[in-house]
Amino acid sequence: MRNARISGTGGYLPENVVTNADLEKKVDTSDQWIQDRTGIKKRHIAEDSETTCDLAEKASRQAMETAGLGPEDIDMVIVATTTPDRIFPSTACLLQQRLGIHGGAAFDVQAVCTGFIYALSIAEKFIQTGAANNVLVVGAETLSRIVNWADRTTCVLFGDGAGAIILGASDKPGILSAHLHADGAYENLLTVPAGVSEGYENPAFIEMKGNEVFKMAVNTLGRIVDETLDANNMQKSDIDWLIPHQANIRIINATAKKLGMSMDNVVVTVGEHGNTSAASVPLALNTAVRDGRIQRGETLLLEAFGGGFTWGAVLIKY
Ligand code: ACO
Repeated sequence: MRNARISGTGGYLPENVVTNADLEKKVDTSDQWIQDRTGIKKRHIAEDSETTCDLAEKASRQAMETAGLGPEDIDMVIVATTTPDRIFPSTACLLQQRLGIHGGAAFDVQAVCTGFIYALSIAEKFIQTGAANNVLVVGAETLSRIVNWADRTTCVLFGDGAGAIILGASDKPGILSAHLHADGAYENLLTVPAGVSEGYENPAFIEMKGNEVFKMAVNTLGRIVDETLDANNMQKSDIDWLIPHQANIRIINATAKKLGMSMDNVVVTVGEHGNTSAASVPLALNTAVRDGRIQRGETLLLEAFGGGFTWGAVLIKY
């Protein structure tokens, strides 16, 4: 079977920045509380006229440029998002036509914060089997549209953004393994209880039992790391970089501790943009590739946990 390797990365954050001090003026919170409990300093919020597809387009163009590929080279587009532009067409189809890509499959994946890990794993299968050669995989969100800006327990946590990669067929190693899981029994701990079929009697806002989500996330992420290492006969010390979902610095610290990893080898961007759901892992990856921390040949562990619950990990030889 063919290898699936990352050939380019990109990222984009909206220009409009909302700091913790800005939120102090809207709800009963403080910069100190937000930083102590979450590590978040600011978040980027899309303008009213700016959509998920707009953010995805900017990140995608950067990833394609880095990979040295044009629209004619991309034969599949997958967008992981919880905040699509429209009910349909999918954001992937909207993005495809923006980028001048035609004919190949294009579809969205909904696995909330684990969406990018799911999308990456799907892309890998298409490349391995020869069904695609260069897949544009995007995580993009305008979560600000489903945040209740009067609820201090959630509004301080989330932000908007997009990250993208090109996954291409290669004779060099790339994705070593992918591990996806879900358990819908936990649907009520983290949800937006509104939708096309259930209806929109109330505004569609994120509702979360933060404490319970926190405990589940820490335990589950510890287990998925072990599962991934066992499947590859690897030791914790074989991982060069941990690239976790950027939800909360305390969850990231706990996972790094379980891995026995120094925080020097963990990519942390949550302070700069908060929880951007499906965009968070590719944004963190792009940051560390562009600033030169991540080098070719290194071993990366990407992991995420999110609503559903969904969770997953991908081990990569970069
Ligand atoms: N500012 C000030 N005080 C606050 C705020 C705020 N923004 N939010 C809550 N508080 C108060 C609470 O009301 C509570 O007050 P009380 O003791 O008087 O009742 C107190 O702070 C402690 O609240 P807790 O909820 O126990 O605080 P906790 O330490 O658990 O931190 C947090 C809350 C940050 C939400 C944490 O539980 C968390 O990070 N959970 C995981 C969230 C997460 O990662 N979600 C995303 C994963 S999936 C995805 O990405 C979609």
